[in-house]
Amino acid sequence: MGGMRAPVTIAVTGGAGQIGYQLLFRIAAGDMLGPGQPVRLRILEVEQAMPALEGVVMELHDAAFPLLASVDTTADASVAFEGADHALLVGARPRGPGMERGDLLAANGAIFAAQGRAIQERASDRIRITVTGNPANTNALIAAAAAPDIPRERFSALTRLDHNRAIAQLSAKTGVAVADIRRMIVWGNHSATQVPDVTHAVVAGRPAVELVERSWVREAFVPTVANRGAAIIEARGASSAASAASATIDHVRSWALGTPEGDWTSMSVLSSGEYGVPEGLVSSFPVTCADGEWSLVEGLELDPDVRAQLDRSIAELADEGEQVRALGLLD
Ligand code: NAD
Ligand code: LMR
Repeated sequence: MGGMRAPVTIAVTGGAGQIGYQLLFRIAAGDMLGPGQPVRLRILEVEQAMPALEGVVMELHDAAFPLLASVDTTADASVAFEGADHALLVGARPRGPGMERGDLLAANGAIFAAQGRAIQERASDRIRITVTGNPANTNALIAAAAAPDIPRERFSALTRLDHNRAIAQLSAKTGVAVADIRRMIVWGNHSATQVPDVTHAVVAGRPAVELVERSWVREAFVPTVANRGAAIIEARGASSAASAASATIDHVRSWALGTPEGDWTSMSVLSSGEYGVPEGLVSSFPVTCADGEWSLVEGLELDPDVRAQLDRSIAELADEGEQVRALGLLD
């Protein structure tokens, strides 16, 4: 027998929630880090959710996943993040019908500051942080501000769900399989101001802009993708969960194992000022990944519609940043 690799420690917050119920099983099955990589799960929840979480843990054991080395639960962030290689920050209060994401800032900001501090104190020096809990970009900003000793590029927020939604819409429109669509981009905030961008996308080897009308992009594609989260809340009475978990898996897998040759993905990361996004905001950009590191795709020309939309999304991110600064959560 070849030696098994040492387990990787994955801390997941909000494990008793809807996303957690999908995410934990996909991680344990090897969908995130590959079929040769054992994992240790550390699940952080609030005390009230512990009985429900115990049920989830029973099910994780009952699935007898060969790659699952251990499962631990705790309500103490410093225990959850001890030695963690990946921190998946999912636990937060989700948006309900009629709520805007800005309403969540105050409720969730304090959680991410405390978790950022615990990650800095406890995590492994390989730690990579992915924020799924909303408002994801600004929560990542808060966690990063609370953990100044961790390299800035280790913090990310999830816009892969938006990226995947954009690919799905373009696939449905063109009749080309999702696997034949490359170079989609989502810019900006994970919110209704996000900027799904087909102008660099390639569909079965052809530029997407040759296959779809600009009017479709403006009137159908962008609003459908940008408002998909709200449409799902409306339809399900609860926010997206299985697709959000799947996108979280995709995000970490791309980051850890790399993006395919000739393609890129979308990730929200701390800006260094690229594409006019002010330094220090967490915005979605096109990135390639290799050897566990992401690199921003630079030098793309921005379509005037995309530029104008991105400026609006940047303004929203800056405004969210100001709100959390006013709450005393930055600096
Ligand atoms: P949920 O309410 O079903 O589960 C959230 C869980 O987090 C609950 O079990 C809760 O007890 C736990 N929690 C709350 N505070 C916590 C804390 N301080 N520490 C640990 N756990 C804590 O919600 P859900 O549907 O699983 O969604 C989770 C988050 O993901 C929400 O913020 C939602 O808006 C967000 N979301 C993001 C995306 C995205 O694409 N970025 C997509 C869908 C949902
Ligand atoms: C989503 O995109 O589905 C989630 O972020 C839910 C939301 O609040 O929009």
